[in-house]
Amino acid sequence: MKAITVPEFGGPDALVLTEVEAPTARPGEVLVRVAAAGVNRADTLQRQGHYPPPPGESEVPGLEVSGVIEALGEGVEQWAVGDEVCALLAGGGYAELVRVPVGQLLPVPEGVSLVDAAALPEVVCTVWSNVFLIANLQPGETLLVHGGSSGIGTMAIQLARQVGAHVIVTAGSEAKLEACRELGAEVLVNYREDDFVERVLQATDGVGADVILDIVGAKYLSRNVSALATSGRLVIIGMQGGTRGELDIAALLSKRGAVIATSLRARPAGEKATIVAAVREHVWPLIAAGRVQPVVHSRHPLADAAAAHLELEASGHVGKILLVTG
Ligand SMILES: NC(=O)c1ccc[n+]([C@@H]2O[C@H](COP(=O)([O-])OP(=O)(O)OC[C@H]3O[C@@H](n4cnc5c(N)ncnc54)[C@H](OP(=O)(O)O)[C@@H]3O)[C@@H](O)[C@H]2O)c1
Repeated sequence: MKAITVPEFGGPDALVLTEVEAPTARPGEVLVRVAAAGVNRADTLQRQGHYPPPPGESEVPGLEVSGVIEALGEGVEQWAVGDEVCALLAGGGYAELVRVPVGQLLPVPEGVSLVDAAALPEVVCTVWSNVFLIANLQPGETLLVHGGSSGIGTMAIQLARQVGAHVIVTAGSEAKLEACRELGAEVLVNYREDDFVERVLQATDGVGADVILDIVGAKYLSRNVSALATSGRLVIIGMQGGTRGELDIAALLSKRGAVIATSLRARPAGEKATIVAAVREHVWPLIAAGRVQPVVHSRHPLADAAAAHLELEASGHVGKILLVTG
């Protein structure tokens, strides 16, 4: 089969379409013929040699796909050959075929095309597990989403509004902020022009944000604590602004605040299956009802993976970038 490999770490041109041995489904897995794969920031880090796959996982990049089940591994009874699915992966998605543990499979939601379903697994599982399962965002609370126009951000805005929370976003341009507003964000902060702490306090009558979903990391740590409400929960899922920051414990303690950091890819299959099951129960009906939608910025052929990475790194996109196979 054809797959994207990384013979030598480097820039987007390090991604090479190669003929490799096709995987087979092991017990408890299915083999999926890939229709499309989502492009994630983690893939760009893997390409540069900064984010190796977990031990035993495919070296081929790609953390999510959509496609059609081609074969069933031993003991798989709940899925059939020909089912249209999307899936969360630990790797291997930039390929014509990928093997998937059954706990990480989801049906393609009603109303979503087979290709665009590839935009869902990573962002929905990340947002649901962090904002809802871990930070326990409640109706009437305020969520601050950094990078509102990112793949993650576009899903976080929609899901938070669906549970009746208020949403404040940061983004780096007026066009991106407008896209966030269309998705339901109520307070828009251009982080290149305004101080988000001031804007959050102003918008919440000095209370602060109950939950912050952060992709910046170190650079925002102290300002995020300043923007938190009493009993607020700061969930860090990205390190685009560095890994080492200074935390004022007194400030956190006086707010009875929590700082949590998580990573989805390295979680054991059992934990991923729990998240996927929760997503299927709580989010899939919202998508099927048309109340939450995948936001797809562009679709590139698999062979043009380098162009897709260039586009992601240029950061002009809103939502997800996909690689389409075939
Ligand atoms: N821990 C996990 O399990 C997990 C899972 C999935 C994703 N992630 C992380 O989540 C982040 C988003 O992923 P993605 O795939 O959705 O990425 P993406 O679509 O490439 O978006 C990245 C975004 O970061 C924004 N950004 C950069 N600096 C910013 C700042 N100082 N303030 C606000 N926004 C800023 C960019 O917007 P501008 O160009 O406007 O700055 C861009 O929209 C990444 O860091 C990724 O590694 C973590």
